Amino acid sequence: MPAPCGVRVLPARLTVSESEPPLSPAALEAALGTLGVLSSEKELTAWRVANLGRKSPLALALRSLGRLPVEERAAVGRFLNQAKARLHRGFRSRQADLKARKTDSLTPLDVSLPGRPLPRGGLHPITRTEREVVAAFASMGFHVIEGPEVETEYYNFEALRIPADHPARDSMDTFYLDALTSRSSRQPLLLRTHTSPNQIRFMERQEPPIRVIAPGRTYRNEATDATHEWMITQTEVLAVDRGLTLSQLKGTLEEFARRLFGEDRTIRFRCDYFPFVEPGVEVSVSSPQGWIEILGAGMVHPEILENMGYDPAVFTGFAAGLGLERIAMLRYGIRDIRQFYENDLRFLRQF
Ligand code: FA5
Repeated sequence: MPAPCGVRVLPARLTVSESEPPLSPAALEAALGTLGVLSSEKELTAWRVANLGRKSPLALALRSLGRLPVEERAAVGRFLNQAKARLHRGFRSRQADLKARKTDSLTPLDVSLPGRPLPRGGLHPITRTEREVVAAFASMGFHVIEGPEVETEYYNFEALRIPADHPARDSMDTFYLDALTSRSSRQPLLLRTHTSPNQIRFMERQEPPIRVIAPGRTYRNEATDATHEWMITQTEVLAVDRGLTLSQLKGTLEEFARRLFGEDRTIRFRCDYFPFVEPGVEVSVSSPQGWIEILGAGMVHPEILENMGYDPAVFTGFAAGLGLERIAMLRYGIRDIRQFYENDLRFLRQF
């Protein structure tokens, strides 16, 4: 029956003459299939002689090609050439497998050799610093809390006595989330510029006595330099109780600094202004680069205590916001804050 137009049909058996063995596509696949079970060089040689040798069906078929009718010759010739290439490839690949297996089995197993070391990861210096800071405050009786990095203007600013027109907003150039507003309060959403919103979130839900710390990422649209990054890790500290004073804040921060920097480092307290504390202070630590400011702090503003439903005549509180990158710089003698987030392994492997 003639082949459908444009389709070449190879005969299932490419018999070149009645007296010679055939090489059909099925016989070719069968020969290639047996390669996988050959397990010695001797078997492989026998396979080569049978399938690629002078008396193999392939060799015989190639030799008798000229005797085929002219119209069949091209198709059969193409098939035989492809078959030859595949048989050679299969042979070489099985030969390489057997050789590799032989080398493996000849390598003696030395059970006394030390094991190959697995590459080990390490903690990022800021993670280490965060753990040390948490441990220092935990040993003074503080609990760890967490709050969201995406905040509303209310928690980040307004509840902390920073209204829209307050100059304190200029010191925290803020990333707003375009076109997104809080579902419950319909307010614009932003990336928190400090961890202080945690103070409000916690006081709204809890009654004094309070002793908590809140570590986490914060974001500001900063022009970066050796001591300023646009993303930093802060830790908020908040204590509210009857009769807390500024001297207890000072004592707590001095104890913290002693644990992290040792006895020899000098720390300096100076007056500072934050709308949510009264009075406010900043703390700096001495370094070869001069004083480096590590935190802002102060006594929780009485108006905030009142807004939270606490009687400011009975309860007082202190709060602080620590910059962990600056603390890590001082602990490890790092001169440029930007190195922490460049992901250069030569830098990170040192910790
Ligand atoms: C604040 O963020 C206040 N929320 C801190 C506070 C909390 C005050 C509670 C009073 C009571 P300030 O912007 O100064 O304050 O940041 C606090 C600390 O974070 C700084 O002392 C510094 O260590 C670190 N810090 C702030 N901005 C950067 C920055 N761009 N790069 C590196 N560290 C920074």
